[in-house]
Amino acid sequence: MKKIPLILMGCGGVGRQLLQHIVSCRSLHAKQGVRLRVVGVCDSNSLIVASDVINGEVDDVGLTQVCKAKSNGASLATVSSHAMSGQEVTSKIIEVVSLLGNSTGLAVVDCSASSETAGILSQVVDFGCCVVLANKKPLTASLEVYDKLVSLPRRIRHESTVGAGLPVIAALNRIISSGDPVHRIVGSLSGTLGYVMSELQTGKPFSKVVTVAKSLGYTEPDPRDDLGGMDVARKALILARLLGHRLTLDSLKIESLYPVEMRPSVMPIEDFLVNGLPQLDADIQDRITKASSKGNVLRYVCLIEKTRCEVGIQELPKDSPLGRLRGSDNLLEIYSRCYNEQPLVIQGAGAGNDTTAAGVLADILDIQDLFP
Ligand SMILES: NC(=O)c1ccc[n+]([C@@H]2O[C@H](COP(=O)([O-])OP(=O)(O)OC[C@H]3O[C@@H](n4cnc5c(N)ncnc54)[C@H](OP(=O)(O)O)[C@@H]3O)[C@@H](O)[C@H]2O)c1
Ligand SMILES: *[C@@H]1O[C@H](CO)[C@@H](O)[C@H](O)[C@H]1NC(C)=O
Ligand SMILES: *[C@@H]1O[C@H](CO)[C@@H](O)[C@H](O)[C@H]1NC(C)=O
Repeated sequence: MKKIPLILMGCGGVGRQLLQHIVSCRSLHAKQGVRLRVVGVCDSNSLIVASDVINGEVDDVGLTQVCKAKSNGASLATVSSHAMSGQEVTSKIIEVVSLLGNSTGLAVVDCSASSETAGILSQVVDFGCCVVLANKKPLTASLEVYDKLVSLPRRIRHESTVGAGLPVIAALNRIISSGDPVHRIVGSLSGTLGYVMSELQTGKPFSKVVTVAKSLGYTEPDPRDDLGGMDVARKALILARLLGHRLTLDSLKIESLYPVEMRPSVMPIEDFLVNGLPQLDADIQDRITKASSKGNVLRYVCLIEKTRCEVGIQELPKDSPLGRLRGSDNLLEIYSRCYNEQPLVIQGAGAGNDTTAAGVLADILDIQDLFP
């Protein structure tokens, strides 16, 4: 039986779902001749680690206990019975990494939402371990960090960073490695903004659509976290870098759907929802009318072309794949030499703990050949 040792960083919605998938897939994995050996799990202030990291594991009872504690809002420290500083967690992880890197191998799985993990992950690569990410932040940090993380492409997987479980990165990697040049990617990579833009087509005002989206739980607690476009920008940057563009987050053109005067630091959320949002209705309505007169619709997309990588509202033909998109699905159109007139289209749910964790699990199994 091949064993894949792993450490999980982050035990939120996605991390816990991953642990549940690992436990419930035991017999499936056994049939495939692999076993995932969870050596450690950490959150922002504690780490649970197997007493014998070379051969032992946090068993399924322990993993279930971890999930239960975390979903009750407790810290991992209540399970491990000792809290640790972030620094202590980091040095303990590095200790395990250095021990397992050139013996059993180790996959370090980042399901946190932190920019702090980039430092650990860079070291993980140096010790010959593998990296699997759902977290976009390390891949959208400086080019130096990015280059380091992807320096051994066989050892990194990050399918769930773009489009959750959708096979976006895998599809692009296949196209790229076959020498088929990708010259354009247009994609709706936010379920929230996808829903908002397609609802606007029914004639409802922007403020109404956003309010309904919020009440349906489609938005972040403060909808400005979605409307600002930063999450889409991170996904766009990951795709652009995959295509070889030497870009950084601060060089991207990012259109925010609310003006700076309405940013969270100057306008409280209630004020934004009640007074701010309605002020934005007329302008968007105007743009929709203009687009519609040309047979186009508005979509909030990432657009990557030769030297261009931007995120914001674009007018797109209403009978194109993106133009036909309704609801909260993600959709990506990829144009290359082989997919020239008709793009390769990837569509489906682009968020959710379950699909995202499933994408991470598939990534871990995808690197199994690197383990003895
Ligand atoms: N949910 C989705 O649909 C989806 C889709 C695609 C990608 N993603 C990405 O997947 C990641 C996880 O999402 P989520 O919804 O599970 O987030 P979440 O619920 O906020 O969970 C984040 C977890 O990371 C932990 N954490 C924070 N800082 C850490 C650090 N420095 N080291 C280790 N762990 C740390 C947190 O610890 P505490 O519990 O102690 O705070 C928490 O357990 C995010 O990067 C997100 O962007 C999510
Ligand atoms: C993901 O998990 C979090 C934390 O358990 C939960 O609050 C959220 O509702 C879940 N999201 C979905 C779409 O199930
Ligand atoms: C394992 O890796 C460490 C650090 O990279 C190195 O010092 C040590 O010599 C290696 N051991 C073996 C057996 O290769």
